[in-house]
Amino acid sequence: MTIRVLHVASELYPLLKTGGLADVTAALPAALIELGADARVLLPGFAGVAQGLADLRPIARLERGFGAREATLELGRLPGNDLPVYMVRADAFYSRPGNPYLDDEHVPYGDNAQRFALLGWAAAQLAQHLDPAWAPHIVHAHDWHAGLAGAYLRAAARERGHAPARSVFTIHNLAYQGIFPARQFDELGLPGDFFDMHGVEFYGQLSFLKAGLFYADKITTVSPTYAREIQTVAQGGGLEALLKGRAHDLVGILNGVDYSVWSPAADEAIAARYSATRMSGKLRCKAALQQRFNLTQKHDAPVFAVVSRLSEQKGLDLLLAALPEIVARGGQLVVLGTGDASLEAGFTRAARQHPDAVAVELGFDETLAHEIVAGADVMMVPSRFEPCGLTQLYALAYGALPLVHRTGGLADTVTDASLENLADGTATGFVFERFEPDALTAAIRRAFALHARSRDWRETRARGMREDFGWAASAQRYMALYRELV
Ligand code: ADP
Ligand code: GLC
Repeated sequence: MTIRVLHVASELYPLLKTGGLADVTAALPAALIELGADARVLLPGFAGVAQGLADLRPIARLERGFGAREATLELGRLPGNDLPVYMVRADAFYSRPGNPYLDDEHVPYGDNAQRFALLGWAAAQLAQHLDPAWAPHIVHAHDWHAGLAGAYLRAAARERGHAPARSVFTIHNLAYQGIFPARQFDELGLPGDFFDMHGVEFYGQLSFLKAGLFYADKITTVSPTYAREIQTVAQGGGLEALLKGRAHDLVGILNGVDYSVWSPAADEAIAARYSATRMSGKLRCKAALQQRFNLTQKHDAPVFAVVSRLSEQKGLDLLLAALPEIVARGGQLVVLGTGDASLEAGFTRAARQHPDAVAVELGFDETLAHEIVAGADVMMVPSRFEPCGLTQLYALAYGALPLVHRTGGLADTVTDASLENLADGTATGFVFERFEPDALTAAIRRAFALHARSRDWRETRARGMREDFGWAASAQRYMALYRELV
C-alpha cells in the first residue's frame, strides 16, 4: 500500500525560511517519496510561497475563514523537485511583508491564533476529501503553527464515528508554544470540552503546541537526546508531564542533511569546490571569506564562525564572553545572524573593537551562509538547548569542525576531540559540557591546540566530511512509524 502523507508546516525551503524547520519540511517529504510514499505539503499562502510555487491552481473554496474574508485551497509544485504543495490562500492573513509570525516591531501578529487555526483546519479538511483527487492517510504536523490539525481531526472523528486520518506531530522546538488568551478559544470552532487540561488548555490559556501533543497519535522530535530532555522539568517547558505520560508514543528521529543543497563538491555558491580528498578549494574559500569580511588575510589564523538566529536559545551570549580568547590567540570570528537587539549590538561592538579579527553581518542570507561554512575552520554552536541543529551537520560536511554544547541533537552528532577519541579515530569536533563561559573558553583552547597539530586536524576534518547524515535513514524511521499507524 502506498502511504499518503500530508506535511503541514509554515515554512519550506527555498520559498520561505527563518530556520531549520524549512530545510526539514523540504527535504523530508522528498526523502519519503524516494522510499515510495506519496507525500505532499500544506502551507499558509505567505507571499514567498504564493510567488514561488509553480502551476498553482484552485482546488476548493474553504467554507470557514476564521475572519479572513476569502480563503481558498490551491495546489502547485515546488520548482526544482516537483514536490506537490497545497497552499491556503487567504491574503488578509498571509499576504504581509516581512516575517511570517511577527510584525515590523517584532511583536506577534494579533490574529496569529486565527491565522494558524486556519492552517490546521484546512489540513483536517484535506483528510476529509476537500481535494476529491487526493486525501492523506497521515496528517504530519510540524511545530505549534500546525498544532491544531490534530484537534480538528479529533473533532471530525467524534462527529463521524471514525478518524478521517491518523496524525503525527513533530516538535522542532518546545520553546515556541503558540499560547493565546483563553477568550480566543471560541473563535476556533472546536467542541467546548476541548478547552480542558486534557485538551488545548494550558495554565488557563490556549496552547497550540499542547493541542499538537495531546491529540496526535504519535509524537516525534528531531533527536533522541532532545526526546529525553523534554521529559524533564528543566527542559519540558511545563509540558514534561504530558510528554512523560505519552513516552510510549514519543520518539526522537534525527534530522538529516540534504546533500543536494549542502555539499562542497557541488556547491555553486562558494568560491571553489572541494571534497575530503581534494581540499585545496577550502583554502580558497577561506581566503575569499577573509576578503569578503575585510579580515587580515592569514591562512593559518583559524576562522571561527556563527550562522544563526540570534536568540537566547543559541547561547551566543556565552560566545560574546569567550570572544577575547579567540582574538588573543590570533583567531578570527565571522558572525552571520539576526535577532535579539542586545546580541546584534554585542557582536557589532566586538567587530568595531577588533576590525581585523571580528566581522559581523546582520541579516538572513542563504548564499553567505554557504560561503561562511565553506570558509570557516570551526563552526560555533554553543546552544543552551538544541532540538537537533543543522548547522553543525553542514559544518561536518564542509570540513569546518563543529564546536558545540553537549545538548540535544548536538550531543547526538558531534564527537569531542579528546585525546582518547583522537586515538580511537572517532573525534569530529569539540564538545563542552557545562553551559559556562569557562567551559566554552576551554573548548576554544582545545580547538587552537588541535589546529596547531595539523595532521590531527586534517584527520578529524576528513572524518567529519566522510560521515553520512543523509535523510535516507531517518526517512525510513518515519515510514516505519506511518506503517504502524495505518
Ligand atoms: P534553528 O532552526 O533553531 O534556527 P538549525 O541549526 O536547525 O537551527 O537551522 C538553522 C538554519 O537556518 C540553517 O539552514 C542555517 O544555515 C540557517 N540560518 C540561520 N541563520 C541564518 C542567517 N542569518 N542567514 C542565512 N541562513 C541562516
Ligand atoms: C528548530 C530547532 C533546531 C532544529 C530545527 C529543525 O528550529 O531549533 O534545533 O534543527 O528546528 O528541526
